[in-house]
Amino acid sequence: MLPKVNFTETEAYKYLADHFIDINQKSIKDLFAEDADRFNKFSVFFEDILLDYSKNRISDETLALLIQLARECKLDEAIKSMYNGDKINETEDRSVLHIALRNLSNTPILVDGKDVMPEVNAVLAKMEKFSNSIISGEWKGYTGKAITDIVNIGIGGSDLGPVMVTEALKHYKNHLNIHFVSNIDGTHIAETLADLNAETTLFLVASKTFTTQETMTNAHSARTWFLEKGGKENDIAKHFAALSTNAKDVSAFGIDTENMFEFWDWVGGRYSLWSAIGLSISLSIGFDNFKQLLAGAHATDNHFKTAEFENNLPVILGLLGVWYINFYNAETQVILPYDQYMHRFAAYFQQGDMESNGKHVDRNGNEVDYETGPIIWGEPGTNGQHAFYQLIHQGTRIIPADFIAPAQSLNPLGDHHPILLSNFFAQTEALMNGKTEEEVKAELKKEGKSDAEIEKIAPFKVFEGNRPTNSILLKKVTPYTLGSLVAIYEHKIFVQGVIWNIFSFDQWGVELGKQLAKKILPELAGSENVSSHDSSTNGLINQYKAWR
Ligand code: F6P
Repeated sequence: MLPKVNFTETEAYKYLADHFIDINQKSIKDLFAEDADRFNKFSVFFEDILLDYSKNRISDETLALLIQLARECKLDEAIKSMYNGDKINETEDRSVLHIALRNLSNTPILVDGKDVMPEVNAVLAKMEKFSNSIISGEWKGYTGKAITDIVNIGIGGSDLGPVMVTEALKHYKNHLNIHFVSNIDGTHIAETLADLNAETTLFLVASKTFTTQETMTNAHSARTWFLEKGGKENDIAKHFAALSTNAKDVSAFGIDTENMFEFWDWVGGRYSLWSAIGLSISLSIGFDNFKQLLAGAHATDNHFKTAEFENNLPVILGLLGVWYINFYNAETQVILPYDQYMHRFAAYFQQGDMESNGKHVDRNGNEVDYETGPIIWGEPGTNGQHAFYQLIHQGTRIIPADFIAPAQSLNPLGDHHPILLSNFFAQTEALMNGKTEEEVKAELKKEGKSDAEIEKIAPFKVFEGNRPTNSILLKKVTPYTLGSLVAIYEHKIFVQGVIWNIFSFDQWGVELGKQLAKKILPELAGSENVSSHDSSTNGLINQYKAWR
C-alpha cells in the first residue's frame, strides 16, 4: 500500500508557498551571483551521468523544503513498497516490478510470497538463445534461408520503448533490419511489408494483453500476407513469435507457445521494454548489449533505492517538476536530447509520464484540487532551436526544459560535435541570462542604428531570461548509460505520483475511446445514415459514408 498524504496539507507545502513569494523575486542570474559554489551545490554525478540543476529557480532553502515535502509524503516508504513487491497498483491489484526485470543482482523479489526472479531469468535465457540463433543465421525460415528482417507489431508500451531504444542504440546494431508496425492505419503495415520477403521475415507480435485491437488486426494482416506469399500454416512457427502475458490467446492465434516470450501482470506496458517486449532490442543490438541496458537500469534502481534524497537523481528531478508545476503553474515539460539517435526519447516519455501521471483523482478516490502530470514534449536539438525554441525564450509560458547531451559523439565528424555541444551549452545559458534592454540597445548602437530605430526595435529583442533548465551530460550514449537514463526518468515519474497522491500505474483514461470505437465500428458497415449519436458525430459518420 502506498501512503496517502495530501501534499498540499503538509508543513513543507505551507513553507514552500511562503518561500515561493521570496524566491520568485530573484532571478537565477542573481542566485548565481550570490553563490560562487552554486554549480557544485546543485549538480550531482551518477556514474557517467552528470545532472546540473543549478539553472533552476531554487535556493538551498527551496531544495531543503522540497526534500521535507518528499519526507512528509513518505516517499521513502513508497519506494520500499515498490521494491518489496507490494500491490501498489491498487486499482488493478498488481505489484509494480519493472525493477525485477533488470535485477541482475538476482536478489529475491516476492510477489504473493513467490520469488519472481527464477521466471525472469528463465525468460532472459530464452531471449538470449533465440536472439543468438536468429542473429547467427542458425534459425532458418520456411525455405531454409536465414532471417534478415524483424517486424515488431505492437502499440503504446509494446512499441514506443523498443522503437526509442533501437533508434538510440542504432550505433550498436547488427545486420538485421528492424521494423515497427503500430498504427491501425493500413498504410503502416502495407508500407512496411512492401519491401519485405516472407521467406526471411520474422514477426514479433508484442502485446501484453494480446487483445489490443490495433496489434491483433495488424498481426492478422501479417499472417495473411505471410500465407499469401507462399508460407504454409505449419511454417508460422518459424516466422511468428509472441511477446505477451496471455498464453491462451497466443496459441489461439496459431503461434507455437515455444515461441512465446512471457512476462507478467506486474510489468506495466509503458515500463515493459526491459521484459520480453525488449526482444526486438536484443535482436537489433545482441543480447549482451541488451543485458548492458538492463545493467544500467539496475544501477539506477540501486541508486534510487539507497541514495540520500539530496543526491538522488530521480528524486531531485521529480521534486523540481513538482516545484514548477504546483508553484509556478508550469503546464508542460520539454525534453531536448542533443543526440540524433535519441530522437524518440521525448515521444517515449510522453507515454511514460502522461499515461502514468495524467490523473485527476487521488489515491483516496477524491478529485484533486492541484495540478498533476505535465504535458511532455520535445524534439532533438538543434532542430528544435529552429522550430519552437522561440516560444521557450520569449513566449508567455514557463517551460521547464531538460537538456540532454553526450560528451562523446558516436560519429565524430569534423566539427559537428563541438558545434552541437556549443548549442547545448549556449541554450541553457541564454534561457537563464536572457538579454536586458540595455544590452539590446548597446548592441544596436554598435551596429550603427539610429536612436529612433533603436527605440522602435529594442523591445522585441529583449529576452527576460530566468527560464529554468536541467542539463544532463552523459559521457557517451551506450546501452548501459541509456538504461540508467531511462530508469532515472521512470523513477522521476514515480516520485511525482507519490507526491501528488495519485496512482501512477493504471491507465483507465484510455478505455472510453476504445469502447466507443468498438460500438461505432459496426455502424460504419451499411450505407444507411446513423442517428444514434450527437449531431456532430452523426454528421461526421454520415459524411464519411457518403465519401468513402
Ligand atoms: O494505450 C493503453 C495501453 O494499454 C498501454 O498502456 C499499453 O502500452 C498499450 O495499450 C498496448 O497494450 P498491449 O501491450 O496489451 O497490446
